Amino acid sequence: MTRYHPLLVALHWLLAAMIILGLILGGTVLAETANDDPFKLTALRMHMSMGMIILALMLLRLATRLTTRKPPHSDIGNALLNWLGQAMHWALYCVVIALCLSGLATATMAGLPGIVFGGSGAPLPADFAAFPPRAAHGALAFLLGVLILGHAGAGLWHHYVRRDGLFRRMWFGQREE
Ligand code: HEM
Ligand code: HEM
Repeated sequence: MTRYHPLLVALHWLLAAMIILGLILGGTVLAETANDDPFKLTALRMHMSMGMIILALMLLRLATRLTTRKPPHSDIGNALLNWLGQAMHWALYCVVIALCLSGLATATMAGLPGIVFGGSGAPLPADFAAFPPRAAHGALAFLLGVLILGHAGAGLWHHYVRRDGLFRRMWFGQREE
C-alpha cells in the first residue's frame, strides 16, 4: 500500500484549504467586527456554515480513515519522532473536531441559530465573552494554528531535506505496489 485512499486525499486538501481560510478569516474579519455592526450577521452566517461543513467533512474523513487501508506510518529511524508523527495526526483530528464543537456550543448558548439563520430579528449579545466555550474556541484555534505549522513544516522537511517522496502518499494514483 503506497498511498492513502483517494477520498481521504481529496478531503485532506479540501479541508486543509477550508480550515486555514477559516482560521485566518475567523481571527481577523469575524473576531474584529463588533457585534453591533450589521455586517456581523453575514460574517457569522459564513463562518458558522463553513464551520459546520468542515465538521461534517472531518467526520466523513475520520470514518474513511478508520475503514480504509493506508501506507505504514513513515519511519524516520527514531522511535520517539515516529510516535510523535502518529500522535500529531490523531491530534489534528481531535483538535479540529473539538474546535467545531466549541464553536457550536458558543453559538447555541448565545442563541445564534435563531438570530443568524432563523431571522428572529433579536439583537446579538454585546459580545461572546460571557459564554465559556468561546474562550475554548479561541484557545483551540490558536493550538490548531500551531499544530498545522508543525505538520506542514514536517511535510516540507520530508520533501526537501529527507527527499522520501512523502507527498506522493497524500496524492492520487496507483495504490498497490
Ligand atoms: C488544516 C490543515 C491540515 C490538517 C488538519 C491535516 C491533517 C492531516 C492528517 C490527519 C494526516 C494523516 C492522514 C489522515 O489520517 O488523514 C495528514 C497527512 C499529510 N498531510 Fe496534512 N493536514 C493539513 C495541512 C497540510 C498541509 C498544509 C500540508 C503540506 C505542507 C500537508 C501535508 C500532508 C502530507 C504530505 C501528509 C501525508 C503524511 C503521511 O504520508 O503519513 N497537510 N494531514
Ligand atoms: C474548523 C472550523 C472553525 C475554525 C477554523 C474557526 C475559527 C475561529 C477563529 C479563529 C475565531 C476567532 C477566535 C479569537 O479571536 O479568539 C472564531 C470565532 C468564532 N467562531 Fe469559529 N471556527 C470554526 C468553527 C466554528 C463553528 C462550527 C461555529 C458555530 C457553529 C463557530 C462559531 C464561532 C463564533 C460564535 C465565534 C466568536 C466570534 C466573536 O467573538 O466575534 N466556529 N472561530
